[in-house]
This record gives sequence, C-alpha cells and structure tokens, in this order.
Amino acid sequence: MKGIILAGGSATRLYPLSKAISKQIMPVYDKPMIYYPLSSLMLAGIREVLIISTPRDLPMFEELLGDGSRLGMKLSYKVQLVPNGLAQAFVLGAEFLNGEPGCLILGDNMFYGQGFRTMLKEAVEQTERDGGACIFGYEVRDPRAYGVVEFDANGKVLSLEEKPQQPKSNYAVPGLYFYDSTVCAKAAALKPSARGEYEITDLNKCYLNEGTLQVKLFGRGFAWLDTGNCDSLLDAGNFIATIQNRQGFYVACIEEIAWRNGWISSDQLRNLGQEMKTAYGQYMVHLADTAK
Ligand code: G1P
Repeated sequence: MKGIILAGGSATRLYPLSKAISKQIMPVYDKPMIYYPLSSLMLAGIREVLIISTPRDLPMFEELLGDGSRLGMKLSYKVQLVPNGLAQAFVLGAEFLNGEPGCLILGDNMFYGQGFRTMLKEAVEQTERDGGACIFGYEVRDPRAYGVVEFDANGKVLSLEEKPQQPKSNYAVPGLYFYDSTVCAKAAALKPSARGEYEITDLNKCYLNEGTLQVKLFGRGFAWLDTGNCDSLLDAGNFIATIQNRQGFYVACIEEIAWRNGWISSDQLRNLGQEMKTAYGQYMVHLADTAK
C-alpha cells in the first residue's frame, strides 16, 4: 500500500492567513500541519508517499520533508495545476501507484486517539486482502460541510452525499480513504459534479454501487479535528498542546514514528533531534537515550 497526501487548494476560509502560503504548512501548535496526516500514513505502515500540491506551494513541502530518506521513507512530489477535486489525486497519482492499492489522506485532516494504529493496520490489511475500499464515519453535530454516510438499522451503507443541505445522518466521512488497485481507473472515469469538481464522494459511490465499500466508525472520544477556519485551527493547536504537555508524549512526531516503526535507528533519531534546539528536538534525543 502506498500513500498520497493532497495538500492543495486555496483555503479561502482562512484568508488572509492562507493568502500567501499553503494552509497545510501552517503551525498546529509546534509543527506544520502536514506532519499530522503524514504521521497517520506512517502509523498505517505506509513508507512510500506522494505529496500533491499547487505549483506555488509544492517547493515548500519539498524543502520541509525532502526525499524522506531521513525518516527511512520515500517521498515524492507532484503538482496539481488546477484545483479541480480530490478524486484527481488518483489521476495525478496513477503513475506513482503503478497498479498498487493506495491510501489518500487530506493534508488538513488530523486524527488522534487510542487504537488508531490498529484501525489503520486493519484497513490496510483488509483492502490488500479483499480489495474494495475502506472509509470511515465520524459523528459530528453538523455534518453539512462534509461527505455524509447514511446507514440502515443493521449498519449497512444506504447512501453517500457530498455536503448535503439536509443530511440523512450525522456521520461525516473524514478525509482518509483506502482503495484497491482499481481506484485509478475509477477516478479517470468520473465526471465533474455540479460545482465542477471530481468529487471523492463520487469515487466512493463507485465502490458502494459495486458492493465493495466498507465504512468503519471512529467512536466517541476519538478526535478528528477540523482546521478549516481560524477557530478550528486554534482549537486544534490547543488540543495538541494540552495532550502533549500533560502526558509528555508528542503527537505526530514523525521522527519518533519512523523510529518506532524500525525505519531509523536510535542513533539516527538522536542525530535528528540534536539538529533542533527545541523541546521537539530534545524529545527525540530523550527517546533515543532512554531506549531499551
Ligand atoms: C472534503 C471532502 C468531504 C470530506 C472532507 C473531510 O471536503 O469533499 O467529503 O468529508 O473533505 O475533511 P472539503 O473539506 O475539502 O471541502
């Protein structure tokens, strides 16, 4: 399974913050936003990742993350010339996936909660073994800004709708999707929606119609954080600060995850930590020094 992070868009709801730089490079407390979705892919065990962004912003992500070798990963980059929908990730990413299954995560989606790694691993295994698609449902008070999934009494998926005015349920679909190797052909055959975009919800509907769509639910207490406007961005930062400062464990420390995955050694982790004279760097050194 390979991974794709879509970090494009113009983020007009964050203007003037995002007028001159990408939203996904902005700080969420102590690290750039893209660290969070990248860490989710890493927790899923995904080592090869394509980052897609605008012609203006892509060089900044390359400067930030490089070729991934420092994390024992392989990162590559691709420009999205026109922001014409999330499903385009699988048209732009077809060459990168090269017939393998793929996981897409949106560059502004943040997940946090116990058991997340296990859920991710299950989604990878299931998609690789059985094919089809695996997406998630998360109960929110107001789902109108999201893709919405409706279930029957037995938990069977009845419908998927993108940003409905009258949602049929409170289950929003977060921006984390696992697809089998047919995804690129499905994406290439999509037609633009009424708002002129190649919708990820339409791609998911292909799998629903085929009878191969799985929807797993994130439970109560699990955090799927929004970063769409100034208030939710600040809330996300405060949430991360609260968790980190209370427990002393970092959220989305990509170097730590690479190390725990066995992709880099303790010495490599220590060296990376020593490059940064911050609490973030000291945390890595501490991990390396106290490793058993
Ligand atoms: C996109 C998707 C939507 C999904 C959401 C998750 O919407 O179109 O289905 O629920 O991401 O963040 P956007 O926020 O890009 O408008």
